[in-house]
Amino acid sequence: MKNFINLSDINKKELRKIIDHAKIYKKKILTSKSYYPLKGKVLIMIFEKPSTRTRISFELAMKQLGGELLILNPKDSHYGGGGESIHDTAKVLSQYGDIVMMRANKHENFLKFSKNLDIPIINGLTDLSHPCQIMSDIMTFEELKGPISNKKIAWLGDGNNVAFSLIEASVQFNFELAIASPKKFKPDKKIIAWAKNKKAKILITKDPEEAVNLADCIMTDKWISMGDKVNKKKKKKILKPYQVNKKIMKLAKKDAIFMHCLPASRGEEVTNDVMDGKQSVVWLGALNRIHVQKSIIQWCLK
Ligand code: CP
Ligand code: NVA
Repeated sequence: MKNFINLSDINKKELRKIIDHAKIYKKKILTSKSYYPLKGKVLIMIFEKPSTRTRISFELAMKQLGGELLILNPKDSHYGGGGESIHDTAKVLSQYGDIVMMRANKHENFLKFSKNLDIPIINGLTDLSHPCQIMSDIMTFEELKGPISNKKIAWLGDGNNVAFSLIEASVQFNFELAIASPKKFKPDKKIIAWAKNKKAKILITKDPEEAVNLADCIMTDKWISMGDKVNKKKKKKILKPYQVNKKIMKLAKKDAIFMHCLPASRGEEVTNDVMDGKQSVVWLGALNRIHVQKSIIQWCLK
């Protein structure tokens, strides 16, 4: 059984196949409307926290490939309300669907759920990682700039769940990664150690200007993630020098692109002129999630 949990769990060649197939799915929707390989298949989506893009892109992916969906929002089920154990919910859901996509508060609960499930599961974001997002970012980057291998990606700001998956991707897709974060909000130590052990081309710095120097792409994310239990005011103050603005964009390559997984807090981690500027590819990034989800679902089911 194939689960899609973290990018470091999956072989490089398999990840490359998922991206290449996503590109084919994107072309197919324009040329052929009658391709329904997921007819009769049911995806169960479980949300412990809100989602716009992940929810709708998975929904569209299933619908465009002829499949069906069941959606459980927080408090919709006994599991969400705390009235049934993870084990028992997983056993029952395994009989109702063919595959699960879960957005979980705690990664350890996600793993516990996955271990009790008899059907594949996809990580639709946890407090630790967000692999589906980064797969879509790779597709978007390559659509615009060619193979990502040996290109330079810069990440500014919070060393959060999206940054975690980006670090894993830098190893699996062989790109240079420069992360600028303040000491207090650096990415997970274990994943940095894993990446360094795999000879990743990775720079962790406090200096945003050093990180973005000649980058092909600058990425960032909200300073306060869902469920982040921090002093928000204090965290935002510490992260202020890591804002992506026009001045920072100028230090990257002239044709560099700007990516953000969204939702964004305009005026905080990114200014309006960058979000809405010519280098921003945020809308394409959101669109491509549909096609990457199709590819991930198919990979898990095959
Ligand atoms: N980027 C992303 O996962 O967005 P949602 O939280 O809207 O799903
Ligand atoms: N880091 C953000 C990503 C949202 C898609 C969060 O976890 O809230």
